Amino acid sequence: MSNVSAAITAVGGFVPKFVMTNQMLEKLVETNDEWITSRTGIKERRILKEDEGSGTSYMAIKAAEDLLKKGNINPAEIDMVIVATVTPDSLVASTAAFVASEIGAVNAFGYDLLAACSSFLFGMSTAASMIQSGRYKKVLLIGGDKMSSIVDYTDRTTCIIFGDGAGAVLFEPNTEGLGLQDEYLRTDGTGRAYLGMDAGGSLLPASEETVKNRKHFIYQDGRTVFKFAVSNMADAGAKILERNSLTGDDVDWLIPHQANKRIIDATSNRMGLSSDKVLMNIQKYGNTTSGTLPLLLADFESKFKKGDNLVFAAFGGGFTWGSIYLKWAYN
Ligand code: UT7
Repeated sequence: MSNVSAAITAVGGFVPKFVMTNQMLEKLVETNDEWITSRTGIKERRILKEDEGSGTSYMAIKAAEDLLKKGNINPAEIDMVIVATVTPDSLVASTAAFVASEIGAVNAFGYDLLAACSSFLFGMSTAASMIQSGRYKKVLLIGGDKMSSIVDYTDRTTCIIFGDGAGAVLFEPNTEGLGLQDEYLRTDGTGRAYLGMDAGGSLLPASEETVKNRKHFIYQDGRTVFKFAVSNMADAGAKILERNSLTGDDVDWLIPHQANKRIIDATSNRMGLSSDKVLMNIQKYGNTTSGTLPLLLADFESKFKKGDNLVFAAFGGGFTWGSIYLKWAYN
C-alpha cells in the first residue's frame, strides 16, 4: 500500500435560478406547505429552466467551471472526469465525456457512475482509489441531477422532494495523511422494488404503453424507503465512527444526503452529534440526488478547516448506502 492518500483540494457548485416553492406545488398536486415542511424540511427547490433543452451536463459544466475558477486549475491537467448521476444527458454516450470536452479537460478520460442517491458517495470511493493507485494525479468528480426530467408533477409523493443541481470536487494526492480515511459502502438489490424508474432501460424499453402508463417517471414507496433509509444511513454513520475509534465529539461536520430532514436527524442522533455539526441545505434545494453532498461542500466550504473530520452518509435507490470518513485538507 502506498502512503499517499486522496484529498479534496477544490470544490464548486451550481443550482438553476428558477425557484419552485411549496406554494407552487400546492397548485399542481393536493399538498400544502405545512405538510411538506413538517414531513421533509423542504421549503423550495431549484428547477433547470434557464437554458431550455439542456440536460444534466449543463449544470455539471457550470459546477466544474466554478471549481476550476475558484481553485485556479488548468483543465488540461485533469486526468479523469467522473459524473455521478441518475439523469445522464442520454444513454450510451457518457455525460462525463461531453463535460470533459466542454471544460477543456482535453487530456482526461471519463465515464458516468450510477448508484441512485449514493452515486456521489460511491464516486468518492472510485475517485480516491484512482489517486491512491498512483496512476492519476487529478480526478474531477461531479455529482448532479436534473431530477425534474424524471419527476411526475402529478405524483405528490415524489414531486415535493426532488430538485435540480450539481456540485464538483477535485481529488489530488496528499502526503500529510489528509483526505479519505475510511469507507463503509453497501448495496441490497431487493430494494429496487421500492424506488426506481420502470421503463427506458433494457428490461422495459420505451413504447407507447410505457409512456401512456407513466413508466418513465421515478416512483417510490416512500414509507418503506424511509424506514430503510433511517436504519441504514444511521447504521453506516455509527459504524464508520466505531471502526475509527471516534465519538460524536471527534466529528467536526456531518455531510448527510439531503432526502428528508427526519432521516438526517435520525442519523445525527444515532452518531451522537450536536445539531450545529450537521450541514443542511435541504430547505432550499430539496433532494438533488447525486448533487446533495457536493452542493453541501460548495455551500459550507468556508467553514471547513484543515484537519477537520468530515463524515459523509447517504442512502438511495437500489438500495445503496454507506458512509465515508474524510479529513479536510485546506483552509
Ligand atoms: O433520496 C432517495 C431516497 N428517498 C428517500 O429517502 C425518501 C424517503 N421517504 C420520505 O421521505 C417520506 O416517506 C415521504 C416524505 C415521501 C412521505 O412522508 P411520510 O411521512 O412517510 O408519509 P406517508 O407516505 O406515510 O403518508 C402519510 C399520509 C398519507 O395519507 P393517509 O394514508 O395517512 O391518509 C399520504 O397519502 O400523507 C399523505 N401524503 C401527502 N399529503 C400531503 C403523501 N404525500 C403527501 C403530500 N402532501 N405531498
